Amino acid sequence: MSLHIDAEPGAVAPRVLLPGDPLRAQFIADRFLDRAVRFNTVRNMLGFTGYWHGERVSVQGTGMGAPSIAIYAHELMQEHGADVLVRIGTCGALQPALDVGSIVLAAGASTESGLHRRRFPGVDYAALPDFGLLFAAYTAAASKDTAVTVGGVATMDAFYRDEPDTVAALARHGVLALEMETAALYTAAAGAGRRALSILTVSDNRHRDSHATPEQRERGFEAMIELALDTVIAVAPAASAGH
Ligand code: HPA
Repeated sequence: MSLHIDAEPGAVAPRVLLPGDPLRAQFIADRFLDRAVRFNTVRNMLGFTGYWHGERVSVQGTGMGAPSIAIYAHELMQEHGADVLVRIGTCGALQPALDVGSIVLAAGASTESGLHRRRFPGVDYAALPDFGLLFAAYTAAASKDTAVTVGGVATMDAFYRDEPDTVAALARHGVLALEMETAALYTAAAGAGRRALSILTVSDNRHRDSHATPEQRERGFEAMIELALDTVIAVAPAASAGH
């Protein structure tokens, strides 16, 4: 049990998928996992544990933004034995080549998050994923002929913003997309000696002013879920992980 995750000891698997939306956690449990059991209902931030290809996997909603995912990542790692954490979410593309529905593997996350400034005064810490997980995701995608783009994203605090210059500078420097959680997840995992990766689908492209249709969202999201599940079971959790 922890403050925001009311799970019994051992109820959370060492491998955890992290969608922002708790109803997506429910959807993944219902549609993808075998024998899924719900372990969390605190604040309706649903969490489930089930099986994917015979391997135990959990899925826990995180809410939106760095502070929210930081709470769930902290409790999952420090109190529930999570070792391999893969965020699945959406992002707003900054590069014209990225179509709605494209999948991005976040090889690094720039950020404006205040959490980072507090943690690393005077240093622009580079928030990076675990390379083994990134490689596993890339390999799993290649084996299914799922196209992915690998590169940097930016984790922003503000979704609605009125300083377009910042976004333009990020785009000019090759940042693939904006989202709101990855840097916090990567940093929390690195600080705890655990492994993390973000797999994102493009839900909108600011460059083209295009948005996903509900069908595109659904299809892109399902490919991403399968890729994330295949990725977490491709790596072994630490022997000491879990309970
Ligand atoms: N900004 C931040 N997060 C997002 C966006 C965006 O444009 N699109 C999807 N998630």
